[in-house]
Amino acid sequence: MVAYPREFMDELIARSDIVSVISRYVSLTRRGSGNLGLCPFHNEKTPSFSVSSDKQFFHCFGCGVGGDVISFVMKIENLDFPDAVAKLADWAGMEVPQSTYGENDRNRRKRAQEACRDAARFFHERFKADEGKEAREYLLGRGLSPSTITRFGLGYSPDTWSSLLDELVAKGYTKTELLEAGLVTTGKTGKIYDRFRGRAMFPIIDVRGTVIGFGGRIMGDGEPKYLNSPESEVFNKRKNLYALNLAKSSRADFMILAEGYMDVIALHQAGFDSAVASLGTSLTEEQAHLISKYKSRVIISYDSDKAGRAATERAIDILKKTGIDVRVLVMQGAKDPDEYIKKFGRDKFAKLLENALPSAEYRLSMVRDTFDLSDDKQRVGYIKSAVSQLARMSSAIEREIYAGRIATETNVTRDAILQEAERERKRLLREKKREEEKKILDPVAAIMPKEKEARYKNPRSAVAEEGLVTICCGDVKLTLKTSEKISGGMFSSELLGRVFDVMTERARSGLDTDMSAFTEVFGENEVSHIATVFARNADKSADAIDDYITIIQQENMKGAAAESDDAILAAAEFYRKKKGIRNG
Ligand code: GTP
Ligand code: MN
Repeated sequence: MVAYPREFMDELIARSDIVSVISRYVSLTRRGSGNLGLCPFHNEKTPSFSVSSDKQFFHCFGCGVGGDVISFVMKIENLDFPDAVAKLADWAGMEVPQSTYGENDRNRRKRAQEACRDAARFFHERFKADEGKEAREYLLGRGLSPSTITRFGLGYSPDTWSSLLDELVAKGYTKTELLEAGLVTTGKTGKIYDRFRGRAMFPIIDVRGTVIGFGGRIMGDGEPKYLNSPESEVFNKRKNLYALNLAKSSRADFMILAEGYMDVIALHQAGFDSAVASLGTSLTEEQAHLISKYKSRVIISYDSDKAGRAATERAIDILKKTGIDVRVLVMQGAKDPDEYIKKFGRDKFAKLLENALPSAEYRLSMVRDTFDLSDDKQRVGYIKSAVSQLARMSSAIEREIYAGRIATETNVTRDAILQEAERERKRLLREKKREEEKKILDPVAAIMPKEKEARYKNPRSAVAEEGLVTICCGDVKLTLKTSEKISGGMFSSELLGRVFDVMTERARSGLDTDMSAFTEVFGENEVSHIATVFARNADKSADAIDDYITIIQQENMKGAAAESDDAILAAAEFYRKKKGIRNG
């Protein structure tokens, strides 16, 4: 996304020292190796706003704001990237070269979307051609009608390495564009090949009707069952829902939230055209918000197994936050809506929808099922569990109503139950407060990034990664030395891995490895998180670098052995390159 010539940006950044720029707004005093002042972004009486000259970043320990010189100007002046650059250039006495910023970005996104649309057409054509026979038999065999297949634009990705690549290159797309669209991937040798091969293809379409990605299902056994497009500027898994483009105009006054693509399609085929699903990840707050924008009620219809029930619990919490009416469909005798409709028919499923339970009642019923109410002891157990559910309901009316029900079921007065619930509520509130206090003292919890997609999967490695990038930041020699032993692809945190790669790249081009250019490469939240990482690791010593490298390598090997192809490829790629460096 470099919109300005590299030389211009490098010079601008070199001339825009963060301490002098921030000093225009904040009076800073030197404190140890840093500079301290009153935070301009929140009200405070004692200074917690620190600016590092070595690493060229700012961070406030009070409100958590942070970033590099460009993001500081953007924030304080409320400017977008090009305007902040213009301001800095003005102060530095530099001429801003013609930029196509913004337009460039938009064009790139549009090209990636067009590539996805053309890919969807290609997959659909291949599906109808001779070679699509297996996919046709597979989907028809699963009960989908030809018109459903057309409606969802389902397709087939040929089991070859480059049929889509060749097709789209012939149409004029560049390899970079296809990479950006997530349609191809780079192999060990740097060769580019089709990401989806020999799979039944499910195009993922955003609410405006634009194809933004794909899910590809393997047609036999094998892993992964579904391969999804990678997260990108075009394909945001957090902010989109499968089939929302269709469901949003359904006449139903509720949305059905299912787990899988196949469930959604089966539901639509059976006439339940307000079904959606998240995109291979668990439900996000953004998706919950999206649902609540279109309908005032949602019926969760996840798989009936243990995993589905756990996912239901999570989804209830997330959906409730939006204020939408949340119900849960309870299904017996089938593992998911797709199977249920096939086994029992659409009318039976319509009944299940009608009988879906309000979330509070659902939770109570889950509890009730585990007790035998004719047994006194178990009845006490049930009351205890039920009271704990009551205590978690935020509405007093809800608490009253359900307390009444529990009273009837157990032959205990409603008041006694309400009293217990009140006591439990108070206890929960105290506990919550204690938890929050503890979190501040708990190192692993404290380092977890706020953004869910950036959450650390491997805290042991992440601690080492944080330390490593922090001590390398601002130290070109150390960055170069470290990059011979490790690369960002081996990090457990994708973000920290990219940070290290950016620093490596800059070091290799003879530039500083401080944070000053990060706003060009990273998103706003990312920049702010990186500043937090640097700030809280400021006391880490360069002596620890070898330990950090060892930990990251160990965890990477474990991870590669345990799961992901990507990690193995990254490790292989790294060792190959390293050999190349040695030989050459
Ligand atoms: P069928 O087995 O074909 O009926 O699929 P389903 O739609 O019922 O999916 P399932 O319940 O197995 O999984 C629910 C959803 O999780 C899928 O629609 C995918 O979005 C996602 N998913 C399932 N398996 C994988 C996988 O191996 N990798 C990834 N990334 N996502 C998966
Ligand atoms: Mn299924």
